[in-house]
Amino acid sequence: MKQDIVTIGDLSNREIEEVFDFADRYLADMAGSKPYQIRGKLAIANRFLMTSLFYEPSTRTRFSFEAAMTRLGGTVLGAVDPATSSAAKGESILDTGRVMENYADVIVLRHPAEGAARALAEHVEVPVINGGDGRHEHPTQTLCDLYTLRRENKTLQDLNVLLVGDLKNGRTVHSLVYALARFKSNIITMPAKGLELPESVSRRLREEYGVVPMPRDAVFDAAQTHRPPVADIDVVYVAPGSSLQQQTAKGKIKIEGEWDSLDDAPTVNFDVCYVTRLQGERLSPGARIRYPVINRKFLKDREFADTKVLHPLPRVNELDADLDADPRAVYFKQAAYGVPVRMALISKVLGLAPFAAPRETAQPYPIYSGGRETVCANERCITRLASERNQLRAKFWLVKPAPRLLRCCYCETEFPLG
Ligand code: NCD
Repeated sequence: MKQDIVTIGDLSNREIEEVFDFADRYLADMAGSKPYQIRGKLAIANRFLMTSLFYEPSTRTRFSFEAAMTRLGGTVLGAVDPATSSAAKGESILDTGRVMENYADVIVLRHPAEGAARALAEHVEVPVINGGDGRHEHPTQTLCDLYTLRRENKTLQDLNVLLVGDLKNGRTVHSLVYALARFKSNIITMPAKGLELPESVSRRLREEYGVVPMPRDAVFDAAQTHRPPVADIDVVYVAPGSSLQQQTAKGKIKIEGEWDSLDDAPTVNFDVCYVTRLQGERLSPGARIRYPVINRKFLKDREFADTKVLHPLPRVNELDADLDADPRAVYFKQAAYGVPVRMALISKVLGLAPFAAPRETAQPYPIYSGGRETVCANERCITRLASERNQLRAKFWLVKPAPRLLRCCYCETEFPLG
């Protein structure tokens, strides 16, 4: 059976680790002058074509996928420019997919509508990889993020990860938090005001991944609340079995810096600071937002001494260039790792290498069978696009029976049904 990568949930932890093992191998065998750079070309994909259907701007995702396919020896059918392809004539993404599956062996899709990649995956026989669907998910960016952590922090477990910026609209964050929870790392959120993690993401973290959300003041000592980053922390999502869980069980944590004796004060070090840009294209025009900026000054305290600074890029003004030469900044390496990671992922879905980790496809909820007229509550869902509506029927998981909570099978938006 073909394997689609639409959400990070489509890969088990073992599969993710195995993708990374293959990425390590490609890097070891093909490293350029820098250890994170791939050079040269294999011939293992020379019978295969990949098409990149990009309906939204992209630099890293598209070019690193194309570089990955080319370096495996495969061929790339270039990106779609929505203005010069049939999308401009109103062709549905499903029709475009049905055409492209006859031309290519794998489709990478980026689309502004949430759920577009799942809808396409259901309608074509070739593997579909989601290169980002609206605000929903961006699983291959999460693979690059995690791979960077595995290379730089040497582990994916028990990390304290500070997430900064637009946590509401940033799709990279939505895939990343589930993965961090699955690897038992803690998530500490520092959103711009009004751009907190969506409630349904937070609900899934709690109810499906066993993560315990704690308000800042329940974790950090009140005397510290004026200090950055504590002053701006929103929620601390504590992973079960993490050392932070043991610390919080003992009492409040003090951030280092202002005590004479720190010996008995538990402290929290930030292993990772994951910065994101304001998703301006997804906000209503004229929205005015005070946005956090991460620079050397922000990272001056001891709890940031060994922090790795990540950013999916592009950055706008939220990540100061004064950090670029700092050894803690790994965001350009993170972008470079896109090539070996995507080489490994393409190898997996096309069966080019001996991947052995079993797939886990269990779906915890039944399909909601009532109400054929039910419409997804998310107006940006692929099922609500005029171009798709004729070909795509809305479909929902029944997350809770009473009171009813539905989750769209495409965009995964959750909403109560009265
Ligand atoms: C991200 C995206 O497109 O979601 N970029 C990327 O793929 N590296 C992040 C962003 O655009 O802010």
